[in-house]
Amino acid sequence: MTTFSEDIYSEPSNIDVDTLRNLGPLSGLAGIWKGTRGLDVKPKAEGPKKQAYVERFELQPIDPQTNGPQLFYGLRYHQHVVKPDQVKTYHDQVGYWLWEPGTGTVIQTLTIPRAQVAMAVGKATPDAKSFELVASRGPETYGICSTPFLEYAFKTVEYRIKVSINADGTWSYDEDTVLMIRGKSDPFHHTDRNVLTKIGEPTPNPLARK
Ligand code: HEM
Repeated sequence: MTTFSEDIYSEPSNIDVDTLRNLGPLSGLAGIWKGTRGLDVKPKAEGPKKQAYVERFELQPIDPQTNGPQLFYGLRYHQHVVKPDQVKTYHDQVGYWLWEPGTGTVIQTLTIPRAQVAMAVGKATPDAKSFELVASRGPETYGICSTPFLEYAFKTVEYRIKVSINADGTWSYDEDTVLMIRGKSDPFHHTDRNVLTKIGEPTPNPLARK
């Protein structure tokens, strides 16, 4: 368990303001990416349905963030997914990827416009090429929060994402959102995976541009 000091206000000094140099295991994610080999397995009334998808994934560095003694380096992201050759949004997601060097912690906050939020956490070394984060429903820290309808019909009990930074400069994710669907006793694995290829470099964070 993490123990915190009584001093909750003092902030770290001598912070390196260049986020791109301090992202640890998230370093390989900064930039603008496209993925053309996405595969979604989603819940339908008749059962699981597979769907190919393409996406644009933008992750831009933010200024270092402190909470009292805590220090996070991070990326603000927007993931936009469509079916191949379509314009209509199939999935949209925004949030932050955060790295806390002091504890080797990686956090993903995610928000989707079904009115649902989650915060997943995992541990990694600064040079890790793969790591896994998990959010589960129930706890007061990290976790998953949904609307009453989603709680009633598609209770989201767990979300996990595995990220791999690949030797060819791409990165990939493999995620599993576990839903308890009304009327079904077995959990439903709503899974998504893709490989992302870089199409644009990140813009340095505001303080690093000064
Ligand atoms: C690339 C990632 C994802 C894609 C492409 C995707 C796509 C979809 C689609 C198309 C549906 C609707 C099925 C239908 O009604 O036709 C769906 C359902 C759902 N998704 Fe996702 N999803 C993704 C990730 C996530 C994540 C990360 C979460 C939550 C942590 C999530 C939570 C849900 C829930 C709760 C439903 C059930 C609601 C409903 O069907 O009305 N999804 N997803």
